[in-house]
Amino acid sequence: CCHPTISYRPIRPSDLEILEQIHGDIFPIRYESEFFQNVVHGRGIVAWAAVDHSRDDGKSDELIGFVTARVVLAKDSEIVDLLNYNSAESEWSLVYILTLGVIDSYRNLGIASSLILEVIKYASSIPTCQAVYLHVISYNIPAMHLYKKMSFKCIRRLPGFYLIDSKHYDAYLFVYFVKAC
Ligand code: ACO
Repeated sequence: CCHPTISYRPIRPSDLEILEQIHGDIFPIRYESEFFQNVVHGRGIVAWAAVDHSRDDGKSDELIGFVTARVVLAKDSEIVDLLNYNSAESEWSLVYILTLGVIDSYRNLGIASSLILEVIKYASSIPTCQAVYLHVISYNIPAMHLYKKMSFKCIRRLPGFYLIDSKHYDAYLFVYFVKAC
């Protein structure tokens, strides 16, 4: 019984408070308030929200999950070596996923998978876009399973990439190729 009816929509300014709260709850890294402002106003960042329309607590439009991403130039990125890039391809771009999260009570329902599909669909709609990529902290097993299931390839390990409470943690770099390289 009672499968929630999840839908996906762009993030908007009214999502600011809850977006910031969920980031604070589920990520070990603190983000500047400027980051959240940029997300909700779409300044250099694209973002999607998941909401549960079947909620009857007056919160049927409140965020339960989100993904935030940025379009970057391939030539300025750390994965330019993975692409068959030469200077004639100076307009090539990539989509970099900044943050992805789903609140606890809505996990394992496929919501993060759907949010990633939104990003892949968006990246595929950009003619110059070659790939979607992201970093994940090395102990985050659920996230790594998710990316592998979504056909991302784990490309490299980056020692000490994250600094959290004065401690370094490795990251893995995952890439999903939108175009054959
Ligand atoms: N253990 C192992 N694998 C898991 C787990 C888990 N607890 N949870 C999800 N997965 C993997 C599985 O492969 C699963 O596929 P399956 O159900 O066929 O086995 C797959 O993820 C898809 O799961 P979804 O239901 O789509 O994922 P969900 O909506 O639960 O969200 C997420 C997953 C985003 C990792 C969630 O657990 C979360 O918000 N965690 C905290 C924040 C976080 O770690 N975000 C990602 C950091 S990396 C970044 O932001 C770029």
